Amino acid sequence: MDNVIQINNEGEHAYDIIFSDSFKELKKEILKFNIEKKRICIVTDSNVSKLYANEVMSLVDMNCKQCTVVQFHAGELSKRQETVNKIYDVLVKKKFDRKDLLIALGGGVVGDITGFVAATYMRGIDYIQVPTTLLSQVDSSIGGKTGIDFKDHKNIIGAFKMPKLVYINLSTLKTLTEREFNAGMGEVIKYGLIMADDFYHYLNKNIAKIKSHDLHTLSNVVYMCCRLKKIIVEDDPYEKNVRKILNFGHTFGHAIEKCKGFEYLHGECVSLGMVAAAYISYKIGQIDLSTFNSIKNTLASFGLPITVSGISSNEILREILNDKKMHSGQITFIVLKRIGKVNFYKVNFHNMPEDEKELLINAIETITVQDDAQ
Ligand code: GLY
Repeated sequence: MDNVIQINNEGEHAYDIIFSDSFKELKKEILKFNIEKKRICIVTDSNVSKLYANEVMSLVDMNCKQCTVVQFHAGELSKRQETVNKIYDVLVKKKFDRKDLLIALGGGVVGDITGFVAATYMRGIDYIQVPTTLLSQVDSSIGGKTGIDFKDHKNIIGAFKMPKLVYINLSTLKTLTEREFNAGMGEVIKYGLIMADDFYHYLNKNIAKIKSHDLHTLSNVVYMCCRLKKIIVEDDPYEKNVRKILNFGHTFGHAIEKCKGFEYLHGECVSLGMVAAAYISYKIGQIDLSTFNSIKNTLASFGLPITVSGISSNEILREILNDKKMHSGQITFIVLKRIGKVNFYKVNFHNMPEDEKELLINAIETITVQDDAQ
């Protein structure tokens, strides 16, 4: 395993992903950006700040013009304009200009918000991703998707803004709760299902090692995911076509996230969504029943939910109809052709044939259970 993967997007949009088992090399990497004349703002949340903010600050503080830390309350509910405004306030007060630098230190929410501030403050300022959760290391820190939620709509406001560097300190995975770690595995398993059957089999063979957080195995897992994401985001940086496959399970997943009031983590909802999408794949004859069951077993083996209680199929269906990916009454679901290969399955919500509606309802019912049945 190399300790660097280059994302070769065009021109100034190229960047490196650095892999390390500490923050030691972060200083050397940041110094490459000639920070002596720059102000730096480290954006983090209330959980991560306690663990790593001082260490990261100490690496840059003496070498840049000024270093500030901004933190907000951890969790999806902070992914809103108010948090963005709080960061803008600090940047304005501290006289940040376009040549300065932001550092996103944390998980997916921190990365998405910081990237969004970076895309919009003074029409664009550089930022670096320092992801500290499994989910952000394997997915959200790479590829420049940034954004916030608005009213009831998840990620509806956003921009593409490529980071200047992604620095992955794998040892931060040690401080994750089991639940958060498992949620990250949802996105990890997704890569295997949509584009790499060998990786899917590797995950299944190494369940015990992954669950015991064996650093060597985890390094391989994170590295492999980043290699797979590289292929996609180089080919289609702005999600015009192939990048859409990364949304496997996400149409159902986002709907559940919303219906459960963000009580479930994103990766947990993606797990549920992948079960529903795999069910459609099975019912339309793309995968067989044993493959469908093995997908459920794999997700469950990694501690991920495959059923959810307390919400009805109709609520989920209503949320799906609100999905931002709906175009002219049509949603394209990503389904599996086999393990490691996907197909697109279009559903037209205007004049939907009865059998298609039934398929969708059945897919949702596969993952919803009545409270008293639990
Ligand atoms: N998280 C999906 C993507 O980056 O496209």
